Amino acid sequence: MADLTLEDRIIFHDAIETMEVDFRNMTFRNAEGCVIAPEAWDRFALRGKSTNVAHSLGTVRTGASEDTLRAIREQAGREMSRANIFATRDQAMQALGEMRKRRSDSGEAVGGAFLRAENIHLRFGGVKAITGVSFHVDRGEISSIIGPNGAGKSSMLNIINGVYRPQAGTVTFLGRTHHHMRPHEAAEQGIARTFQNIALFKGMSVLDNIMTGRNLKMKANFVLQAVFWGPARREELENRRRVEAVIDFLEIQHIRKVPVGRLPYGLQKRVELGRALAAEPVLLLLDEPMAGMNVEEKQDMSRFILDVNEEFGTTILLIEHDMGVVMDISNHVVVLDHGEKIAEGTPDDVRADPVVIRAYLGAG
Ligand SMILES: Nc1ncnc2c1ncn2[C@@H]1O[C@H](COP(=O)(O)OP(=O)(O)O)[C@@H](O)[C@H]1O
Ligand SMILES: [Mg+2]
Repeated sequence: MADLTLEDRIIFHDAIETMEVDFRNMTFRNAEGCVIAPEAWDRFALRGKSTNVAHSLGTVRTGASEDTLRAIREQAGREMSRANIFATRDQAMQALGEMRKRRSDSGEAVGGAFLRAENIHLRFGGVKAITGVSFHVDRGEISSIIGPNGAGKSSMLNIINGVYRPQAGTVTFLGRTHHHMRPHEAAEQGIARTFQNIALFKGMSVLDNIMTGRNLKMKANFVLQAVFWGPARREELENRRRVEAVIDFLEIQHIRKVPVGRLPYGLQKRVELGRALAAEPVLLLLDEPMAGMNVEEKQDMSRFILDVNEEFGTTILLIEHDMGVVMDISNHVVVLDHGEKIAEGTPDDVRADPVVIRAYLGAG
């Protein structure tokens, strides 16, 4: 065991872009000790990758000692990546299998755009909230809508998930075109969202709030559940299992029983993300997930958003005020101002666009 070579300890699972590392009988106490040997980098390079983090190669680790485990977690926290650590190889392989399945589920081939909004017009009485906006979101990407207050960002999410009905325009999702996407259709097709103002039951526990995200997945109704033990019971167990997985993923085990109203704001936002994740969405809409957070909370939330995207393959459309965050984590950015699209492109394109700069300076 002690003379396992690095070659033996590192296995690449190319299909799911994941590296498996066996840490048995290895110990390091800090990130410096965790430096991967040159021959491992060579193997990365053979696959056209220079690091596992920058190229979103997931990592699972098995057999890490307590010290090693702590060092990995700290390092992962700094790099905004996940520290997937499993006690045994069987557990790791099962987790990898689930990861692969989630990725392929969310990647079901559908021709054409993943999500496309076409020429959307939305008015509230005399207020023009959105005027002739078209944009698209590609599968598997993190896209952002930015723009000053009142630009129409939240309204656009409300159209995509069927809460608002536009006067004109269409939303095409997974190959189906809707003049008015209805909320239940949106949910059934795998669209989940969080809200600008946290929408949780403040008196209920974290666990119960996240459980409400499973409502759509519960086939047996509540009366049946109360009367019959069989299928309803099985279903409840499955729901519990999923919810526990979400709680683990978001690292909120320690507050699972706490009423949401008693939690600090940043954690409430995380719970709301959990509620959305419990629905196993294909498209996740996040309305200002980091608003009102301090720097550390923003970093945590950014990491979770990146992790959701990477590990579950979930496509994400988010609204965010903090330009820095948006630019860091987005593949694609749409800029709205006074209900109109004024720019669209990569973060670099958008950042350099004089029209965008003017809109932001103008809004103060
Ligand atoms: N339900 C509504 N009723 C009336 N006006 C609304 C409603 N929702 C949004 N608006 C108006 O539409 C415009 C865009 O709002 P919103 O989409 O919330 O902007 P953003 O999220 O970019 O700040 C604003 O003028 C807002 O007052
Ligand atoms: Mg808004």
